Amino acid sequence: MAATADHSTTGASAPAYYVSTPIYYVNDRPHLGHAYTTVAGDVLTRWHRQRGEKVWYLTGTDEHGQKIMRTAETNGVSPQEWCDKLVEEAWKPLWEHLEIANDDFIRTTEERHTARVQEFVQDLYDKGEIYKGGYSGPYCVGCEEFKLPSELLDGATADEKLCAVHKRPVEWLEEENYFFRLSAYGPQLLEFYAANPDFIQPASARNEVLRFVEQDLKDLSISRSTFDWGVPLPWDEKHVLYVWVDALQNYITAAGYGSDPERFAELWPASVHLVGKDILRFHAVIWPAMLMAAGLPLPKRVVANGWLMVGGEKMSKSNLTGIAPTDLTSHFGVDAYRYYFLRAIPFGTDGSFSWEDFTARYTSELANDFGNLASRVAAMVGKYFDGVLPSATAAGDAEQAVADGLTRAVETADRKIGEELDFAGGLAAIFEFVKQVNGYLTEQEPWKVAKDDSAEGRARLATILYTAAEALRATAVLLNPVMPSTAEKLWASLGAEAAGLGALSAQTVATVADWGRLPAGATVTKGEILFPRLEEKPTA
Ligand code: MSP
Repeated sequence: MAATADHSTTGASAPAYYVSTPIYYVNDRPHLGHAYTTVAGDVLTRWHRQRGEKVWYLTGTDEHGQKIMRTAETNGVSPQEWCDKLVEEAWKPLWEHLEIANDDFIRTTEERHTARVQEFVQDLYDKGEIYKGGYSGPYCVGCEEFKLPSELLDGATADEKLCAVHKRPVEWLEEENYFFRLSAYGPQLLEFYAANPDFIQPASARNEVLRFVEQDLKDLSISRSTFDWGVPLPWDEKHVLYVWVDALQNYITAAGYGSDPERFAELWPASVHLVGKDILRFHAVIWPAMLMAAGLPLPKRVVANGWLMVGGEKMSKSNLTGIAPTDLTSHFGVDAYRYYFLRAIPFGTDGSFSWEDFTARYTSELANDFGNLASRVAAMVGKYFDGVLPSATAAGDAEQAVADGLTRAVETADRKIGEELDFAGGLAAIFEFVKQVNGYLTEQEPWKVAKDDSAEGRARLATILYTAAEALRATAVLLNPVMPSTAEKLWASLGAEAAGLGALSAQTVATVADWGRLPAGATVTKGEILFPRLEEKPTA
C-alpha cells in the first residue's frame, strides 16, 4: 500500500466516500488492464479527498479457486506460498510504484476475510437461501465462471467448446454442490434497477444487465467439492465456497462487516464499485442478490470500464499480450502513465494502447502545453522580478477572462471527474484551461512588455506574470489527483506553501477557483523540468 494515511477529516459517523477496485487474481503479474482500473479509482478517491470528504479506497487480491491452485501446482509450490510471493513481489510493489493511495489491501486468504465469509454464508444457509443440489455444465477456469452453452464458441472438434473471453476450452463439471436461490431475486433486482437508474453505469452496461435479469435467472452453484483451495462451508467441510461468492464479500469484510460495526456503518454501502465489463454480472446481479438475502444495503453504484485491447482482443497474460506497466513508466514516467490512459480512452469504452499515441500526447499536452507553460512562467518571474512574484495591479478584461476560464474548468472537472467518472472529459476541461493560459501569454507578449521600463509597463508585466502563475497554482491543485508528483513539483516551484497557502494536499476543490489565492511575494523558482524530452523508443 502506498500511503496508508489517515484521511479522517470529518466526524467519525459521517458516511465515507468508499470506492473499490475488483480484487485481482494472483495467478500472474499485473498488466496494463489491471492498473487501468486501479489508477482510475485512485484518481476518483484523490479527487474526493480534495473535496474534503472522508474517503476510503480499497483494493486487494483474490486468492482462492482452481485457477490459482493449478498455477501453484504447475510452479511446484503451495497455493498460499504462490499467493504470498505474487502479492509481495508483484502486486503491492506495483501499486506503490504507481502512487496508488489505497486505504486498505484485502487478501481473501486472510482470516479477517475467511472467518466473516463463513458467518455470512452460514447465515444464508440458516435462512434457507442455500440448498443442496447437483450441477452439470460447462465451466471456464480462466473466468472462474459457470457458462451457458449459448455463450460458448465452437472449438477444434465437434465436442470442444471455447470460452468467448479466453478462447480456451471450457471444462465439463458434474458434481453435487450447494445452490444459492438467485432465481428468487429476479423481480426484486428489476425493481431495484428501476428505482435506482444510476446503479449500473454506463447505460450500455445497465442495458446488458437488464436484459440478462429479465430472462429467467438460474440458481447459482456456490460450492465445489472436487478440490479444497477455498473457504470451507461451515456446515459441510467437504465443500469449499465458489471463489466468486467468497471474493465478492471482500467489499464488506474489509469494511468491518461482522467485526467493527461502527466502521461498517460509516463505510457501507460502498459509493462506487469499479469493475471491468467482463465481471459486471457478478457485481450487478449476484452480489446485490446476496446482499438482499443477507438483509444488507446495496452499493450505490457499479461502474464498468472497458478493456484495453491489443490487436482487437482484450489484453491479457493468458493471450500473452499483457504489457507490464513498468515497461511504460520507465519510459514515460509514472505521472504521464496515470494521465495517459484516463485522458486517451473514454471511461466505459474499450481502447487500444499505442506507443505512438502515448508519445504524441506526452509531447503535445504534457511537455509542450503544460510543462513549457510552467517553466516559461517561472523563468520570466526569475528574469524580470528576481524570482519574487509581483502583484497584479493592472488587471483588466484579459485577466478576468482567465479567471472565468478557471471557474468553468473547475465546475466541469468537478462534475465530470468527481461525479460522472468521465476522466477524459474532466482532463480535457483542465487542459482547455491550460491552453487558454498559453493563448493569454501569446497575446499579451510579456517578453515585449518587459522592454517598457515605465511604471505602467512594469505594472502590466507584473499583472501578466501574476495571472499566469496564479493559473498555474490552480492547475497544480486540479491535476494533483491525476499527477501527484508533478503537481508537487509545480507547487514547490511556485513557492506556494512557503508563501502561506499551505501544503498542496490541504487545497480544496471548493476554493481552487477563488482567484488571487497565490500571495504576491511568493518565491518562484524554476525547479525541475516537469516532462523531460523522451528518449528514443526502446527497441527490445
Ligand atoms: N478476481 C476477479 C474479480 C473479483 S472482484 C470481487 C477477477 N480478477 S482478474 O484479475 O481476472 O480481473 C480483474 C479486473 O481486471 C477485471 O475488472 C477485468 O475486467 C480487469 N481487466 C483484465 N484485463 C483487462 C484489460 N485488458 N483491460 C481492462 N481491464 C481488464 O476478475
